[in-house]
Amino acid sequence: MSEDHPCGLQFLSDGLPDGEAVGVFGGLQPATRRAPHDGTMRTGRHMTAATTEAPSGVTVEGLRCRECREQEAIGPSHVCSFCFGPLEVVYDTAGIAGRVSRERIAAGPASLWRYADLLPVLSADPAHRIDLGTGFTPLRPAPRLGARLGLDDLWIKDDTRNPSGSFKDRVVTMAISAARALGLDTIACASTGNLAGAVSAHAAQAGMPAYVFIPRDLERGKILGAAVYGANVVAVDGNYDDVNRLCAEVADARGWGFANVNLRPFYAEGSKSIGFEIAEQLDWTLPDHVVIPIASGSMLTKIHKAFGELQDFGLVDDATPRISGAQATGCSPVAEAFERDSLDIRPQKPDTIARSLAIGNPADGYYAVKVANETGGTIGHVPDREIVDGMRLLAETEGVFAETAGGVTVANLKRFAESGRIGRDERVVAVISGNGYKTLEALEGHIGPTFEVTPTLDDLDRALAG
Ligand SMILES: Cc1ncc(COP(=O)(O)O)c(C=O)c1O
Ligand SMILES: [Zn+2]
Repeated sequence: MSEDHPCGLQFLSDGLPDGEAVGVFGGLQPATRRAPHDGTMRTGRHMTAATTEAPSGVTVEGLRCRECREQEAIGPSHVCSFCFGPLEVVYDTAGIAGRVSRERIAAGPASLWRYADLLPVLSADPAHRIDLGTGFTPLRPAPRLGARLGLDDLWIKDDTRNPSGSFKDRVVTMAISAARALGLDTIACASTGNLAGAVSAHAAQAGMPAYVFIPRDLERGKILGAAVYGANVVAVDGNYDDVNRLCAEVADARGWGFANVNLRPFYAEGSKSIGFEIAEQLDWTLPDHVVIPIASGSMLTKIHKAFGELQDFGLVDDATPRISGAQATGCSPVAEAFERDSLDIRPQKPDTIARSLAIGNPADGYYAVKVANETGGTIGHVPDREIVDGMRLLAETEGVFAETAGGVTVANLKRFAESGRIGRDERVVAVISGNGYKTLEALEGHIGPTFEVTPTLDDLDRALAG
């Protein structure tokens, strides 16, 4: 199979254990060398000179290695060809600073595209912008849950409300838009479940063929919730880390755009929109504390990055929210490293009902621990029993039905509040990242009908009387 890409670029062998590498940095930084913005994608992996001005709306100047800082041309690649470090997007910070404003954002659409100035836009062509209405989800006060947890100013960022039911719609919006701009005609992903649904849905709307790779034994709602969109669902006999390794090879061999592999620099930036929305919905202030579920650790690092960018562009006043992470005990490599006070993530073999968070070898784990340390946050883990309790507590108090990842967030939040790691007075935002209808299995055997009756008034009266 040829490695040639339609743009003349070539795919790079992954070279990393799981293809999940991406970095976080504290704010936008000026590029040292510029990528072309003249609508053509240059052949070859390295750019050599500054070229034209960015056309309106384009925000990205190139890619840069997070480790050695070498810059590379824009293309479907995520690993530095010099040192195999993770690539990240380099923004045209001067251009962005010249146009971004609270007013411009407020005048934008009710989707994550209202933050287009701060997201990786590769093309000025509107046909390259995929939009299924993702993002701008509710941020709601959660007083009843707060009262149960001993928190006086608790908020829920409700990402169950995205088109395919999870925050993955955000990252996929960026990945497929980048794929379009780069001329890729097939989209794929390695998924713990939610990404499969998000890629399938957005690919359907974009009219692109999709291949989604998942562990074979995922929840039914995740499998059917991807297949229904007409995607090719590839059920792999292995866990997520096996799936991800396979996908790194497929990306090399097939020339497809893999949302979270070779399109990862663009994909990962989509999670910043959660941070942008939290700030705007709090009237351009930042909360004291944010609690975020961790699988690869990307969402956590990108929400932190978003807060830094808002400060850099003068959209919020300086404030450094504490950022805390939430894992399941059955897959807790990041929490375990945090507890050891180490940045060295020891891979685990996942065994938890929180399947969406079951990444045993999380490449952004290192960066997630750093963010928690630097901001004064914490990273915890909870057993499966508490995950179910967390799902029920959130649903019963706030009317939000979250999947297991939401249960992980709420259960960790409870422990943080009880142990004083989060103070009663802090303004806390809990990120609820996926919809409960996708993981009904988790509740099976725990809850069910309250009364079972025959269709007669007598029988009902008897049942209600207990
Ligand atoms: C519902 C849900 N929440 C959180 C996460 C964690 O995301 P990340 O890999 O960015 O840490 C995932 C990842 O699949 C997810 O599906
Ligand atoms: Zn490098």
